[in-house]
Amino acid sequence: MFLILSSNAEAQNSQQSVPGKRVRECFDSDWMFHKGNIAIKYAFNTSKYGGLTDTNVKVVSDETTVIDYTDVKKLSVFKPADWQKVDLPHDWLVEEPFVNDNSIGVQPGSNGFRPLGIGFYRKEFEIPETDKGKKISIEFDGIFRNSTVWVNGNLMGNHLSGYTPSNYDLTDYLRYGNEGKNVVLVKVDARDYEGWWYEGCGIYRHVWLIKTGKLHVARFGTYITTPVVSDIKADVEIKTTLKNEYNLAKNITLISSIADNNNVIIDTKTISQTIAPFSQTEISQTGLIQKPLLWSPETPNLYKVLTEVIENGSTIDTYETTFGVRTVEITNNGFYLNGKLYPVKGTANHQDFAGVGVALPDKLNEYKIKLLKEMGCNGYRCAHNPPTPELLDACDRLGMLVLDENRIFSGTRDGLNNLTELLFRDRNHPSVFMWCMENEESVQGTVMGTRLVTTLVETTHRIDPTRPATAAVNNAWNEGGFSDALDVVGYNYGQRGMQYVKDREKFPQRKMFVTESTSYVSTRGEYEDNKEKGYVSNLGKGVPWGVEPGKDWEDIVQYPYLGGMFAWTGFDYRGEPTPYRWPCVTSHFGIMDLCGFPKDGYYAYTAAWTNKPVVHIFPHWNWPGKEGKSMKIQGYSNCDEVELFVNGESAGKKKVIPFNKLVWDVVYKPGRVEARGYNKGKTVLKDIVETTTAPAQLALNSDCSTLKADGCDVAVIKVVIKDAEGRVVPTADNIVKFSIEGPGRIIGTGNGNPSSHESDKANQRMAFNGYCLVLVQADRLAGEIKLSASSGTLNSAEIILESVYSKINPK
Ligand code: GAL
Repeated sequence: MFLILSSNAEAQNSQQSVPGKRVRECFDSDWMFHKGNIAIKYAFNTSKYGGLTDTNVKVVSDETTVIDYTDVKKLSVFKPADWQKVDLPHDWLVEEPFVNDNSIGVQPGSNGFRPLGIGFYRKEFEIPETDKGKKISIEFDGIFRNSTVWVNGNLMGNHLSGYTPSNYDLTDYLRYGNEGKNVVLVKVDARDYEGWWYEGCGIYRHVWLIKTGKLHVARFGTYITTPVVSDIKADVEIKTTLKNEYNLAKNITLISSIADNNNVIIDTKTISQTIAPFSQTEISQTGLIQKPLLWSPETPNLYKVLTEVIENGSTIDTYETTFGVRTVEITNNGFYLNGKLYPVKGTANHQDFAGVGVALPDKLNEYKIKLLKEMGCNGYRCAHNPPTPELLDACDRLGMLVLDENRIFSGTRDGLNNLTELLFRDRNHPSVFMWCMENEESVQGTVMGTRLVTTLVETTHRIDPTRPATAAVNNAWNEGGFSDALDVVGYNYGQRGMQYVKDREKFPQRKMFVTESTSYVSTRGEYEDNKEKGYVSNLGKGVPWGVEPGKDWEDIVQYPYLGGMFAWTGFDYRGEPTPYRWPCVTSHFGIMDLCGFPKDGYYAYTAAWTNKPVVHIFPHWNWPGKEGKSMKIQGYSNCDEVELFVNGESAGKKKVIPFNKLVWDVVYKPGRVEARGYNKGKTVLKDIVETTTAPAQLALNSDCSTLKADGCDVAVIKVVIKDAEGRVVPTADNIVKFSIEGPGRIIGTGNGNPSSHESDKANQRMAFNGYCLVLVQADRLAGEIKLSASSGTLNSAEIILESVYSKINPK
């Protein structure tokens, strides 16, 4: 290869860049999925069709059939029956039966008692003749895990991590126009784990086809920071990396405009530069925002940088970067947002949800963030891996601070690549306030661990000097220099032995953060431990290494230098069943269950974290056979006092001690229990628990009444079992059957029962303690969607959703 190093105008014109806008096309629809292995030779000789020779590909289940799945030109024996049509995101593991096999997972059932395996995805697509000359790549946001990609029979490459994105340049391998159809084949070998929780299997995040000219903004090619922020102005530093894939130098003009949330341009910078052949150049520009609207969880104001690359008067690339103006600082006296002490009220979370496993449509990521915000939460820890980009978009948009986390603690080329991808991908999100290098790895506190963490922290500083790096340390805080290598020392369960308070005395300059505050276990709606069923009472103390809900916040209030906390976890998640194993298949750590239904501890956090008055008492009052027996009623409140009335008689008024539970001893008699919250002697609110009669009717509550007819949008519909008087029956476990009419489909159900072995994908679900959930996804057709729910002799219910075309064309 030789390079022409001249910027001579004639030479340039002969290789005029392909003008026009970059296209980032969602590549989620119309995939075929095959479960199980297909023997494909990894390396091979390219045939004259640019693909595998027939003998290279066999179906393992039927050795006599020779099929080339990787190339449409040899599909004579393609058996569609072996393949199932799917749209992405897709998690095949959530459809697998549960198996009581203790060999599954790092510890028994830690991945949720579902055997992992191998699967293939295949998609045919056409590329128009007019795309000739463009650079075309495919971007996988996340595949769990160990994926290998072929295009038209040619090996594109392999990516191990289940949490970082992968990208392949397809330009030379595609067939354009009349050259024929294209095929992309993805092998997912998910037989290994990366964590100790449910991680799913398959292409569980979005896929994109990206088309640009040969001179374009590089992948993750912008970096927007605001080095100077005041009420009066924000200086905006815009770094743009341009990639020239021509074999000659190019003269370009780069225009970067800053726009506000309403797309009104408020500043524009222009620079002209020559980009050497086959090179990448970073160009710096500085913009200005007068009287910036700061980003915070309460005011999630966003701005955009609109990038335009111009050559000879034509736009050859455009790119859009969302950013926010805010300052974050962690000092030895706490966490400061926009100059004010701002203790983080956070939860740590894995990425799955009821009905869908880890393949969350964007709406569900947004839904989870909204639920956490309603609880009073302002922080989210992506435990223990890089999240899907749409989760961060939701955090930017809705206002949620994020601790963004690396998965494998490794200084190898692959390990550093994964960290680097995370940093480049996520460093423009205003929600991200800190990077987490690792969680509780056993090398903490060792000399090797210190060397490794130093390498990772230095890498982080190089790519993003604006945010600190921490690690979620659970021992050895003061051994081997590990903590000294961190900007901020993370404490997992540092309240044990008041470790963080002792460390503060020893190291007053240390910057600290409570990366994991408590683990509390409880099963929604359960008030007795039941090992056989795998249920944990909400009246209990939880696990030995955690404190009760809300008590963790007490430490942050008392010791604000701790910066903030992340409770383990906001939601239950599949896998890591604790304290029981089988039949339990999900965790109990959530403040909400897997469906997002609140447990009792939820109210401890709303009482601690919000200004709205809270009174919540439990358990329910349906205890046939326990008449005359003594019982405890517990409660959470942030009022001054709470008085309890059992069947009209006062059982005592109690002063609320912040972050502590209220407990009354009473004698059970069916009827009505009422708790009155008083502030300054006046009743501000009541919580009422009543003995109900038998289930009589169903009710459906959807989080929305309209959907976008985009094939992606989802309505989250809560199913409630009520008695004849409309009270929720707190022990109801009726089977609810769903049917749907119109342009929508049921994509999953759930009920929050940690021992439910029902299919998440069936059109029916048992209620669990009064509730279950059904997820309805819109088709790409507008119209009325009717969801009906019935359950034996109970009065049925239906709900109508309007699905409408939307101007904004999302995924
Ligand atoms: C932590 C760990 C989490 C989870 C939790 C359960 O130590 O970081 O991943 O296992 O314990 O309490």
